[in-house]
Amino acid sequence: TPVAAVIPAAGRGVRLGPGAPKALRTLGGTPMLIHAVRAMAASRAVSLVVVVAPPDGAAEVKSLLDAHALPERTDILVVPGGASRQESVKLGLDALPPGHDIVLVHDAARPLVPVDTVDAVIEAVREGAPAVVPVLPLADTVKQVEPVAAPGEPEPVVATPDRSLLRAVQTPQGFDRATLVRAHETVTDNVTDDASMVEQLGERVVAVPGHEEAFKVTRPLDLVLAEAVLARRRL
Ligand code: C5P
Repeated sequence: TPVAAVIPAAGRGVRLGPGAPKALRTLGGTPMLIHAVRAMAASRAVSLVVVVAPPDGAAEVKSLLDAHALPERTDILVVPGGASRQESVKLGLDALPPGHDIVLVHDAARPLVPVDTVDAVIEAVREGAPAVVPVLPLADTVKQVEPVAAPGEPEPVVATPDRSLLRAVQTPQGFDRATLVRAHETVTDNVTDDASMVEQLGERVVAVPGHEEAFKVTRPLDLVLAEAVLARRRL
């Protein structure tokens, strides 16, 4: 089964601070988006990558992709994205040609995911799971709090979930295509990942081991870490 990867890259990345859209920020001199596309194309199973560009930036993203070396065997499509991550993924799915029955959804903001993680996700979908997420155990204990009126005000703690049963979720998340399309057609609440939409359908979602290098570049400190990981790889 040929695999397609959808990469939502339409976010502004406001938490990183001022500058270019997050996906276009560079790591080791190369835009994060290019790293993310290469990470997907590194899997021999992936024959198509759909990049979801900022709504007004599809042309810019296209020329960026043309300017960087990518594996010949991988087709690349660029489509304009939407106002939310969810909408951007949906627009990417709409652009998928027939024949790709397994779909990965991968954040451009996770440029350094190793190919072994990508392949492990694909393998679990091939073995029959309609949705697969790569996960890591949590280093920190997690508290549930009550919302407060003003940011910075002390928040009442209401619960401490058992950490051993919690996982931090990464991407690429892998899906049976028909299941993911149905999820995007059915679920309208705001969600932060695609697998949760499949959960809402009542379909089975399984977790496989993720990788610490698949972390999301969100805040300025993450850029420092990403540069260090890249430098170590180049040794
Ligand atoms: O904001 P966050 O870090 O959760 O974004 C995750 C991914 O979703 C990023 O790759 C970002 O570019 C993408 N995104 C998008 N369209 C939006 C918002 C975010 O494609 N409207």
